[in-house]
Amino acid sequence: MKNIAIFASGAGSNAQKIIDHFRGSDKGRVSLIVCNKAGAGVLQIAEHEGIPSILIEKEPFFHSDKYVLLLKDQQIDLVVLAGFLWKIPANLVQAFPDRIINIHPALLPKFGGKGMYGHFVHEAVIAAGEKESGITIHFVNEKYDDGETILQERCIITPEDTPITVAQKVQALEHQWFPVIVERLLSAL
Ligand code: GAR
Repeated sequence: MKNIAIFASGAGSNAQKIIDHFRGSDKGRVSLIVCNKAGAGVLQIAEHEGIPSILIEKEPFFHSDKYVLLLKDQQIDLVVLAGFLWKIPANLVQAFPDRIINIHPALLPKFGGKGMYGHFVHEAVIAAGEKESGITIHFVNEKYDDGETILQERCIITPEDTPITVAQKVQALEHQWFPVIVERLLSAL
């Protein structure tokens, strides 16, 4: 049984889909939720699902091995960033080589980087007059939204689309593909 840690800062709809996907599975389980934002929806999901959660603090996250040691201690095999808005520090990247993945709500390398998250991404996509958007699931390195791509899936943007409807199309792709890719990676570990 492999252990997944989900890092999230927000509502946690992707976290919920991954939890649901692995419920009753013998391949893996979500054994820890890591959050940097008090009151985030993902913490309620963790509580409801009976999954341990921790609220991380900035100083030790960026300037110590505290959380690296905690993840190792909990025997985490794969770290999944599902709407986690802090950059992953070098010590954590190095402690989990090719074992940290992120989902981004656009077709990287377009519309990525610091500050490009959630609705800002979809607003930028519409403002740029893009004809398509989608999702990118990628390995995490020390730069924002920069590691090797694992999967991209696309959706069409029509002239009627708004940032809200693009967000809905992209979220549907996220929910469809993220759990599948997490399972595929776990099997290869
Ligand atoms: C997701 O759309 C994810 O792609 C995005 O945050 C959302 C989290 O939603 N991540 C980023 O923008 C990272 N740059 P959720 O909390 O409902 O899973």
